Amino acid sequence: MELEGQVAIVTGGARGIGRGVAVELARAGCDVAIGDLLDVADTARNSDATISRIEALGRRGVAVQCDVTKEADCAALVEAARNQLGGLDVVVCNAGIMQIGGVADISSNEWRRALDVNLTGTFQTCRAALPHLTSQGRGSIVNIASVAGLRTDGSRVAYSSSKFGVVGLTQALAAELARHGVRVNCICPSSVRSAMTVGELMDVTGVEDPEKADALWTKVGAKRLPLGRSVEPEDIGRAVVWLCESDMVVGVSLPVTGGDGLPTK
Ligand SMILES: NC(=O)c1ccc[n+]([C@@H]2O[C@H](COP(=O)([O-])OP(=O)(O)OC[C@H]3O[C@@H](n4cnc5c(N)ncnc54)[C@H](O)[C@@H]3O)[C@@H](O)[C@H]2O)c1
Repeated sequence: MELEGQVAIVTGGARGIGRGVAVELARAGCDVAIGDLLDVADTARNSDATISRIEALGRRGVAVQCDVTKEADCAALVEAARNQLGGLDVVVCNAGIMQIGGVADISSNEWRRALDVNLTGTFQTCRAALPHLTSQGRGSIVNIASVAGLRTDGSRVAYSSSKFGVVGLTQALAAELARHGVRVNCICPSSVRSAMTVGELMDVTGVEDPEKADALWTKVGAKRLPLGRSVEPEDIGRAVVWLCESDMVVGVSLPVTGGDGLPTK
């Protein structure tokens, strides 16, 4: 699929991986509507920064208030893409939250919240986009799962279960929608620089200055990965672009890890 002149939506596009995906889709030629929690502190400012990056690439960008746990918000995001940008071709379900703790550590409400945002939010975003994509007989959906959806160490039971769910949902939708010309795939990143992961590093190390934590992240990533640098949101964005452009790739769960776990020397 040629991405020049296409329209994309990206949930959780205000910052982190969502911003990297929105920017790389814009670089490939898409106009982009990002959906995020604009009513939460800093998110509106972060969304503005993403839109500026999209516009700097000569594409149109719109920010839409969208909580993916609310079906009406998912529908509003799809409508914004159609009405304000003129269509919908690419859907990236990226919005997600971390939930640390094993089965004995978390409450049922925390369990439900992780599944609600990460798995049901993905389902509802896909469902909102389906009537448009199937009626035009063309489209690409990319869900952002995680390597924690392929294997798990038990330290984050709800997060991991929700991401295994996203991998399963991707396969089920791929099987259901391929005959309508709609391809569904997902990406399983390992650790990518974002507020989610740098924040976790701050918790673990006790480093309180965000800039110092960011520098530490760069150092740890360069040491841990055989390619000698950390994985950035734009790396995930380029993998999304590749999946959208690759006409015969259907139903895959693609790890994008920078070789995490392979020998470094
Ligand atoms: N960063 C990583 O290392 C990593 C690794 C694997 C998978 N992921 C996945 O990638 C996605 C993005 O992660 P990130 O690291 O960029 O996180 P992040 O916390 O930096 O950004 C997440 C974005 O999603 C938005 N969001 C949260 N709940 C939402 C909701 N209910 N509705 C709409 N938007 C909502 C937030 O406002 C934020 O802008 C998540 O699904 C995450 O699980 C991240």
